[in-house]
Amino acid sequence: MLAYAGLMPPDDDRRVYYDHEPAYRQLAARGGTGWDDWKPEVEHDSYGDLERFLASPLCPAARGARALDLGCGGGQAGFCAARRGFALTGIDYSETAVALARDNAARLGIAAHFVRGDCLALQGIADAGFDLVIDNHVLHCVIEPAHRVQLLTSVRRVLNPDGVLFSATMSAELPLDWEAMGVDPVTRVDGRRTRFWVLRAELERELAAAGLEVLEMLGTGATEDDPVGDLLTVARPARP
Ligand SMILES: C[S@@+](CC[C@H](N)C(=O)[O-])C[C@H]1O[C@@H](n2cnc3c(N)ncnc32)[C@H](O)[C@@H]1O
Repeated sequence: MLAYAGLMPPDDDRRVYYDHEPAYRQLAARGGTGWDDWKPEVEHDSYGDLERFLASPLCPAARGARALDLGCGGGQAGFCAARRGFALTGIDYSETAVALARDNAARLGIAAHFVRGDCLALQGIADAGFDLVIDNHVLHCVIEPAHRVQLLTSVRRVLNPDGVLFSATMSAELPLDWEAMGVDPVTRVDGRRTRFWVLRAELERELAAAGLEVLEMLGTGATEDDPVGDLLTVARPARP
């Protein structure tokens, strides 16, 4: 059973809602290398959407460009960008995740820089200079709207004027059986305050409040049988 000991109230200075550290310790102890190994029995396709974005015209040219992987876990999302030529920086709150990311990079021969810190403030990240910021399932860990805008504002701060954010976040547009999912139908937060299902219009408002303009927003993955989907967003600093 996953320990939620690190769950923090929203006004805690650390502003981490669900601390993934206990899960990373457990998965690392059994030889896992990243977040997919938390539930190895589940078939994952955690990086396919990101790979499709990286191959698309919306992705900045990789040569000489810098990518920042938010909530990098074991680094796997960032490695997709690094393999295409981006210089990679990753940040995660979990110290074990950061250690795994460093080990994985060394094993794979990928030059990358990983720091431990909170994505809301992007502590330890230089003020600007990223051409690509990747949010591969991190924003949905941040529940309070003000904190989500804070995270996105930090992203805006570190992006170059021509840089882009790629975000894959859990979303909900279908009429879902919230009760069966253990989710509060009003707040769309699950019972353990680990995740938040955002609506498209909400994310659009949050991005605009952070000074980011949407280039593309696609809903994907949700079906009548499996109603939990992703919202894939590409956004850039708003032009005056
Ligand atoms: C669902 S996992 C995804 C990991 C990784 N992005 C991937 O695709 O494999 C969410 C990650 O976000 C990190 N995280 C959540 N909230 C964070 C925060 N406020 N600051 C930094 N990292 C955070 C967790 O520690 C965890 O590694």
